[in-house]
Amino acid sequence: MKIFSVYNFKGGVGKTTNTVNLAYLSAMEGVRTVIWDLDPQGGTSFFLCVKPKVKGGAKAVLKGKVDLDPHLRMTGYPNLDLLPADISYRHLDQLLHDKNDPLKSFVRVLDALARDYDHVFLDCPPGLSIVAESVFRVSHVLVIPLLPSTLSLRAYNKLVQFIASRRTPRLRVAPFFNQVSSGKPIHQVVMRKVLQEHPIFLRTTIPDSNAIEAMGIKRAPIFAYAPTSPESDAYRALWQEIKTKKL
Ligand SMILES: Nc1ncnc2c1ncn2[C@@H]1O[C@H](COP(=O)(O)OP(=O)(O)OP(=O)(O)O)[C@@H](O)[C@H]1O
Ligand SMILES: [Mg+2]
Repeated sequence: MKIFSVYNFKGGVGKTTNTVNLAYLSAMEGVRTVIWDLDPQGGTSFFLCVKPKVKGGAKAVLKGKVDLDPHLRMTGYPNLDLLPADISYRHLDQLLHDKNDPLKSFVRVLDALARDYDHVFLDCPPGLSIVAESVFRVSHVLVIPLLPSTLSLRAYNKLVQFIASRRTPRLRVAPFFNQVSSGKPIHQVVMRKVLQEHPIFLRTTIPDSNAIEAMGIKRAPIFAYAPTSPESDAYRALWQEIKTKKL
């Protein structure tokens, strides 16, 4: 099983939006795909029209003998399931902290998912918490959406430094620019510089777009209502790059 985590320690940069669209593309390729929502905001449930209630809360999901059956939900899209989060996930950090071996509890859930799925997408909450550290340890690819601004890059550089100071044996980072506005010259300036200096950045960028923002109204991945739009094509290119780029 391959683990793609969509993460940034900044909030509101498009983590949940990208998780849903990338996981949808994975599932449409016939790959058994699940999203594990780690954020008490439960945004993935909202976008996928799934009831977010977690019976027994995050504690029940993490408990010693993992049984995810009561918690997993079908999304209505073929091959795409969801392990949703509700407000009880606000305690996830504390729950992990209270375990003798926080990583082990986290890995137990992923091992249980590995029985039924080939790709798991983790929709991460913002912040640099125990949850984030666990995500860095277990993930294969850390997909990092960034706004094309200097502060955003500063935060990214700090994140990369932090990750380098940790033991993350298999982690590869895949940063890319989200919400790029063609009408803002500063976006173009920042991106040009970064793409020149940092070959690790994905070449695909996702535009700042009404069609993408409409996911909150349509409550669906963009492909469900605008499959032939340039935005959908941008996501397809992004997924292709994440899958094929030697990160
Ligand atoms: N490319 C885009 N174009 C336009 N709007 C976007 C785009 N990407 C995300 N948004 C909008 O930005 C807002 C934040 O997106 P999202 O919830 O995905 O961010 P997030 O990083 O998951 O936030 P949080 O840190 O709160 O979990 C949402 O209203 C979303 O519709
Ligand atoms: Mg989110």
